[in-house]
Amino acid sequence: MKKIEYNVILVGASGIGKSSLVNQFAHGSFQPFYTSTIGIDRKIRDFEVDNMKVKIKMWDTAGQERFQSLVSQYFRNVDAVLCVYDVTSHDSFQQLRKWITRARTLTPSHAQFFLIGNKIDLPGRRVFTEDLFTYLEECKYQHFETSAKQGNVEPVFEAIIRQLLKTYVPEPLSPPPVVSRGCCF
Ligand code: GTP
Ligand code: MG
Repeated sequence: MKKIEYNVILVGASGIGKSSLVNQFAHGSFQPFYTSTIGIDRKIRDFEVDNMKVKIKMWDTAGQERFQSLVSQYFRNVDAVLCVYDVTSHDSFQQLRKWITRARTLTPSHAQFFLIGNKIDLPGRRVFTEDLFTYLEECKYQHFETSAKQGNVEPVFEAIIRQLLKTYVPEPLSPPPVVSRGCCF
């Protein structure tokens, strides 16, 4: 079975749930307390879709502005950018333009962009269909809604992986080299 690898980076304001989405997809777990990401974290998950093994490397960036110059070097090899906002924070939605503009200048031309509205389990929604409609008309990115808490994250990542497979399939990974231990007779 062929094995390929995608690099996926998550961007967006602080506290909107980027790390929680990554933890939910990588480990199926959710932490209710908030530990702000320092710089960038990487998590890996092997996924199987349509007889294809896909290694997903998730680059979880810090939302805090002070880390942005450090983080910028990690955009060079990415295949997908997940632009995350919190559906209960209109400010996090408005900040998306800034994150997308920044990511556009740093990513390769084949990189695909997706929008994710997170925290749909919470009451007090502040981002409404009409805000989204105008925005999506303009950018044409695929849009998903998630709750990292309640865990509907798996089908969203699967849809993203399927979309990536439709448009850009990297060279299969080479199998690990066979280590020769030498011969002792
Ligand atoms: P930075 O690392 O600072 O950029 O933040 P982040 O975007 O990685 O946010 P993080 O995943 O650390 O989540 C921030 C807080 O929101 C934590 O207390 C999480 O438990 C909470 N949280 C994340 N996703 C959800 C969600 O879908 N629902 C609810 N109710 N809380 C969430
Ligand atoms: Mg984080």
